[in-house]
Amino acid sequence: MATRKLLLLAGDGIGPEAMAEVKKLIAAMNEKLGAGFETEEGLVGGCAYDAHGQAISDADMGKAMAADATLFGAVGGPKWDAVPYEVRPEAGLLRLRKDMQLFANLRPAICYPALAQSSSLKPEVVEGLDILIIRELTGGVYFGEPKEIIDLGNGQKRGIDTQVYDTFEIERIAGVAFELARTRKNKVCSMEKRNVMKSGVLWNEVVTATHKAHYSDVELSHMLADAGGMQLVRWPKQFDVIVTDNLFGDMLSDVAAMLTGSLGMLPSASLGAPDAMTGKRKALYEPVHGSAPDIAGQGIANPIAMIASFAMCLRYSFNMVAEADRLEAAIAAVLDDGLRTADIMSDGMTKVGTVQMGDAIVEKFLALSA
Ligand code: NAD
Ligand code: IPM
Ligand code: MN
Repeated sequence: MATRKLLLLAGDGIGPEAMAEVKKLIAAMNEKLGAGFETEEGLVGGCAYDAHGQAISDADMGKAMAADATLFGAVGGPKWDAVPYEVRPEAGLLRLRKDMQLFANLRPAICYPALAQSSSLKPEVVEGLDILIIRELTGGVYFGEPKEIIDLGNGQKRGIDTQVYDTFEIERIAGVAFELARTRKNKVCSMEKRNVMKSGVLWNEVVTATHKAHYSDVELSHMLADAGGMQLVRWPKQFDVIVTDNLFGDMLSDVAAMLTGSLGMLPSASLGAPDAMTGKRKALYEPVHGSAPDIAGQGIANPIAMIASFAMCLRYSFNMVAEADRLEAAIAAVLDDGLRTADIMSDGMTKVGTVQMGDAIVEKFLALSA
């Protein structure tokens, strides 16, 4: 069996706590199922800054480039509030995305049946929800130049960020959305703000043209992104695939997280283009949540977003579809058994910590694999 090379970047705060649960799964899969995972570890975020003054070192970037896939925990925290902007913890994640050209960020929001009661919305609004937000991840206002604070010399300063999209960037993310929609309910809703942004006008034009040229079998609609946020909360089940830019995708996916009960439930996959020779994609798998400084170190973080991100890794990087299905089924089964971390706790359920939740999922996964 070929080895499967994984780089683990646990990061800061609850990142290492969540990653520890995935490490248990990897060890169990190697031992019991002969999965052949070979893992390496590296530093990213505040811990990398503390170790060598950079949010990710060139050596660890090299490891990410060489790995079949990278698993990422979370970065950031108040300890690094005052470090220079260029080396702040979040810069490590942005460098990984940019240097590996991970332009497609898949953020599925699935409401597990057992959690319909945990959402802040009415159960009938979220029950059975299964939507996929496709966020463009290497362009837009995150990376556009100029990006700076200039001194106007009159006691005033000006903060500048630049929203830029080129045709090819919109075409390729639209292509990902249409392709994935074909494997689902065949519907794409594109969100931008063409009413105030030139990049929004271009986004709308290019998505429409890509649809007409290659994907006219898919149902396409357009929505202004602010209205999209409202519709996500009003009646989210109207959506199948949502495709949007880097900043709107960041915000709309946090909104979608709460439909599922907690930010601690939402996984994501950040994918590059398939290599022309090998067909392999560079890939990083990261929960949508951050380092959660308010609960870090207490052993109460929900590891499901991280574990479900590993399920996406099995599916997209290793084509281990049966294993990914079983891991997702194990998560659903543990929730059906009534186990809940604090963030998704409700009356009559059994409150557990990070480690117990991880143990229960590993055990269920192995039982389903037997
Ligand atoms: P956050 O996602 O860390 O936390 C928001 C809220 O959700 C907190 O109340 C937290 O306790 C809760 N939460 C998040 N994940 C949880 C989990 N797995 N289980 C239970 N509860 C969970 O966002 P924030 O507080 O705005 O940001 C904290 C730091 O994380 C900042 O430095 C930010 O830049 C960084 N951040 C990093 C990433 C990443 O590494 N991918 C993503 C978002 C934010
Ligand atoms: C996310 C995070 C990141 C982003 C930060 C930590 C750079 O919020 O992955 O959603 O804004 O993309
Ligand atoms: Mn975010």
